[in-house]
Amino acid sequence: MAGEPPGGGIGRVVQREIYRRGAFGHRPRVPVLPDGLAQAARRKMSAAAWSYVAGSAGQQQTERANRLAFERWGIVPRVLRDISTRDTAVELFGERLPAPFLLAPIGALEMVHPDADLAVARAAAALGLPMLISTQGSKPMERTAEALGNAPRWFQLYWSTSDELVESFVRRAEAIRATALVVTLDTQLLGWRTHDLDLGSLPFVRGQGIAQYTSDPVFMELVRARLRGKPSPEPGPPPRPTPAAIATLASVARTHPGPFMRNLRSPVPRAAVETFLDIFARHSLTWDNLAWLRERTKLPIVLKGIQDPHDAQLAADHGVDGVIVSNHGGRQVDGAIGALTVLPEIVELVGDRLTVLFDSGIRGGADVFKALALGARAVGIGRPWVHGLALDGSDGIVGVMRYLMAELDITMALAGCARLDDIGPDLLRREDC
Ligand code: GLV
Repeated sequence: MAGEPPGGGIGRVVQREIYRRGAFGHRPRVPVLPDGLAQAARRKMSAAAWSYVAGSAGQQQTERANRLAFERWGIVPRVLRDISTRDTAVELFGERLPAPFLLAPIGALEMVHPDADLAVARAAAALGLPMLISTQGSKPMERTAEALGNAPRWFQLYWSTSDELVESFVRRAEAIRATALVVTLDTQLLGWRTHDLDLGSLPFVRGQGIAQYTSDPVFMELVRARLRGKPSPEPGPPPRPTPAAIATLASVARTHPGPFMRNLRSPVPRAAVETFLDIFARHSLTWDNLAWLRERTKLPIVLKGIQDPHDAQLAADHGVDGVIVSNHGGRQVDGAIGALTVLPEIVELVGDRLTVLFDSGIRGGADVFKALALGARAVGIGRPWVHGLALDGSDGIVGVMRYLMAELDITMALAGCARLDDIGPDLLRREDC
């Protein structure tokens, strides 16, 4: 980011800043230790927000498997190599980035901070890292794009049941100068999210995380069509409202575009929520649908949620440009394999044909080092920056991402790597074999 010394070295810069402030009695506003960061964020967040962000599927086994997969690999540092300058720059789809990090797409961020996606965009602009704008964003992508300035942006696409809506999202993504489309494939249904289920809490029902839809002309036409076709209400008195129902109605009215009081009286905001819940994801999607998308955009297409090497092979055969090896941070299939475990096989199989990216379970710079050593070109970060957002808005995101960049830089230096190309599987050993 602006102000960092050329040739890398962000590790020492961040260390010095922190220790200097420490000498004056100031602790970092955003904790550095990942568990401390998560716990501090939890204290700031509502129970519903924490559950949505931190919760994974079922017994949370996949989340643990993601962490275990990292712990099974040990870094074997090399010495007496010139590491006086480090270069963490990487090129992805023709764009040069200062470091191999992507801000992963996260929906419903208004639960965490009122600035939501705009805070992420400002952080991405400060860092020069790509923001993956979520289909489940809390702000229309056009507003997010304004806050991004010239920072790189990709658009993450959930494939709805309406082709017209998918096409409209793609056109809008092109218009805001997105440079890649990330099609998420592992969320055709929401996973069995036990934390959210126990609270009975889903942000979309409250109108949160559906701003891309309510700002879309095709979607709003679907909503109007729904209202036109709606049968008149059952005769008799309406059910007695509960305080929770009133809070939900207020939230739906607040999140919908337009004045609150008008929204409260109008059937449109509620119909928008119901329409979204009906059309969110197409369960019948297959590999054949990719040709339809390919015909409609020249943007690089990246498939997110690939875990099986055969699927990676199929992705390459279907002419996409990249894959993100990911299990959605453990939020979808409980008992799934740790995402890092499958990365080397996928790189081996398609690494020469596709850009292979990785997310799921990264908590520190050493994790990033391991994912890069196993062949990922760059990594997506999710929950850690959401914790930063909860604690200190946009600055909190920048803070957390700088910690990760700093720790990657220091790990590289201490392992004998001056540039990303020096990080290879020769620097890792399995601890359990
Ligand atoms: C959506 O992407 C979710 O994980 O809730």
